[in-house]
Amino acid sequence: MEDALNLWASFLTNDGRLIHKWKHYFPIYERHFRDFVYKPVTFIEIGCGRGGSLQMWKRYFGPHARIVGIDILPECKEFEEDQIEIRIGAQQDRQFLENVIAEFGAPDIVLDDGSHVMSQVIASFQFLYPRVAKNGIYMVEDLHTAYWEEYEGGLRKPTTFIELSKNLLDELNADHSRGALTPTEFTRTTLSMHFYDSVTVFEKGVHTKKWAPQIGKP
Ligand SMILES: C[S@@+](CC[C@H](N)C(=O)[O-])C[C@H]1O[C@@H](n2cnc3c(N)ncnc32)[C@H](O)[C@@H]1O
Repeated sequence: MEDALNLWASFLTNDGRLIHKWKHYFPIYERHFRDFVYKPVTFIEIGCGRGGSLQMWKRYFGPHARIVGIDILPECKEFEEDQIEIRIGAQQDRQFLENVIAEFGAPDIVLDDGSHVMSQVIASFQFLYPRVAKNGIYMVEDLHTAYWEEYEGGLRKPTTFIELSKNLLDELNADHSRGALTPTEFTRTTLSMHFYDSVTVFEKGVHTKKWAPQIGKP
């Protein structure tokens, strides 16, 4: 989408509500979100902050996008406007998330910028990832907290989202593990995983037959 709004420029020139993002996230957003621009995308952002990022996503994805903000603070409700809807609840609350999915349907994109507390990030992912649309994206940001004790983090601590992701990398390759791992729903519905400084991205899709043909003259 060559003519799409440049997200970085949109951030730098923002004079709407406050946005709080690390600058190196912008090439990551552009890389993984660009195919959804101008489409009737359902985009869920966990964590509304001061409401500016929701407005930025609305500008970026265009007139058919439905932007859904989730936050634990009731005052975030005031960020609602055309194309932006807010639901108040905790990202780790399964019943709340179930209600959100029942109301809005399968999200095309989930961006977790909520509490950044490991058990809560994992709870949201475990509930929402299977419910993301079949060609959708799940992105978790600010994963530096996976190394910080006050967010239940710690280097190689088994209960962090980074360690969960390392295990999921094996699950992605389960078909090739010669029986060591049983392929799962995650194996069947995930096309790729991407790791960046503080950000992990999962791209869903439907696998065609996995084989390695030899093509061309011997
Ligand atoms: C970093 S701010 C979001 C910033 C915003 N996305 C932006 O880019 O400008 C994190 C938000 O997550 C919310 N939050 C904290 N714990 C939460 C939880 N358990 N469930 C849902 N939201 C939570 C906070 O109230 C806060 O608004």
